[in-house]
Amino acid sequence: MSRSAHPAGPRHADVLTEGHYSAPAADLNALDEKVWSRTVTRDADGALTVGGMSVARLAEEFGTPAYFLDESDFRARCRAWADAFGPDADVFYAGKAFLSRAVVRWLKEEGLNLDVCSGGELTTALEAGMPAERIAFHGNNKTVAEIERAVGAGVGRIVLDSFQEIVRVAHIAQRHGVRQRVQIRVTVGVEAHTHEFIATAHEDQKFGIALADGQAAEAVRRALTLDGLELIGVHSHIGSQIFDMAGFEVSARRVVQLLAEIRDEHGVELPEIDLGGGLGIAYTSEDDPREPHEIAKALSDIVTRECESAKLRTPRISVEPGRAIVGPTAFTLYEVGTIKPLEGLRTYVSVDGGMSDNIRTALYDAEYSVALVSRTSDAEPMLVRVVGKHCESGDIVVKDAFLPADLAPGDLIAVPATGAYCRSMASNYNHALRPPVVAVRDGEARAIVRRETEEDLLSLDVG
Ligand code: LLP
Repeated sequence: MSRSAHPAGPRHADVLTEGHYSAPAADLNALDEKVWSRTVTRDADGALTVGGMSVARLAEEFGTPAYFLDESDFRARCRAWADAFGPDADVFYAGKAFLSRAVVRWLKEEGLNLDVCSGGELTTALEAGMPAERIAFHGNNKTVAEIERAVGAGVGRIVLDSFQEIVRVAHIAQRHGVRQRVQIRVTVGVEAHTHEFIATAHEDQKFGIALADGQAAEAVRRALTLDGLELIGVHSHIGSQIFDMAGFEVSARRVVQLLAEIRDEHGVELPEIDLGGGLGIAYTSEDDPREPHEIAKALSDIVTRECESAKLRTPRISVEPGRAIVGPTAFTLYEVGTIKPLEGLRTYVSVDGGMSDNIRTALYDAEYSVALVSRTSDAEPMLVRVVGKHCESGDIVVKDAFLPADLAPGDLIAVPATGAYCRSMASNYNHALRPPVVAVRDGEARAIVRRETEEDLLSLDVG
């Protein structure tokens, strides 16, 4: 996403003539509700609270760095998605964004389904009691063992990703004496990133079967002839952190066109289409995400319209939001360590975590916000780069942001909107101990994933 270049921060104004940071917020103590989870506020002492608990208390009990997940916000977002799509559609939460047994139970209670993409995610889902028929299994290279387990467990659908997998799943299903419900993942020729999409490119990647050169139609032909498979529909996923609905519309149109071609060739109207995940969230105040009801309306309007013009029965729609559900519900809490002002440049603020708990900045140049949360401050804004403690100069958590100039070691700062793809992509780089995920709700907090210990590290190192 493009950020407007701001001429300069209040300090260093003479040197910085361009940058990718915004003007400092008028009030650095204000918490923009776009980027913070719903129960976040400041208490009378100025400390940030979530679910009625102050960060000082949370830090004391759980330590830092740690992810704090606002459970009631998570549940509310699940309900908003389920309500927006209604009873004639299905919402599958994409577990790759963040999955734990507690999350599976919340999903189950809030009526969502679950998309998994590995044996590990499948085990977590089944262990926590998600009914197998509410699970979809994805992946471009599912192993035979994973397919065996998914079919054996009776998952509701397997999303087929290649010609080889069509045959593989059919054989395994036959061996189990079942007809496995499957969708075929098609590559519709849309590549979407944040605010832009390209409607003609992007067959050159590892996922799915291309629509453009007739491969998808051939995959459908093969799937329809195999006894072990019940082909229930077609699947498309066009990217992640997308704001522009146009990419989804092109994708939906192309998927419906394929359904019409299948009807014409085989006399079969496939009953379902899945339009994937990918809806963007606000990481900074400049992002303006769509609400679930807007997304649901846009998608169902386009599918209905296209089906009417192709004289098709409208298929049941499913979607797979991951980031849009869990992303906004958590923040990462860090303790400030070394503060290093670089004259004429910016101030480097080191925290007790870094790229091991948030690789997204280093990997995708992702933008985040940050706030001083253990207290308020009336000091001037200072331009900072929040960095981790790892042995790598690219170990950046927040590239450019403003924090109060009186920031001191021991202060707590928090980075909002880290619920998605932070803990799930966390690593042990430099033998870092991966932080806990703490669910907070109604004045109570509990670790749903505990902090790693040095014993955990050593237990894998078998000498
Ligand atoms: N469905 C499929 C088939 C997917 O591949 C994905 C994400 C989703 C649903 C969920 O997409 P979401 O709603 O969360 O955008 N690590 C990257 C994101 C990778 C997304 C991979 N697939 C990041 O941190 O931005």
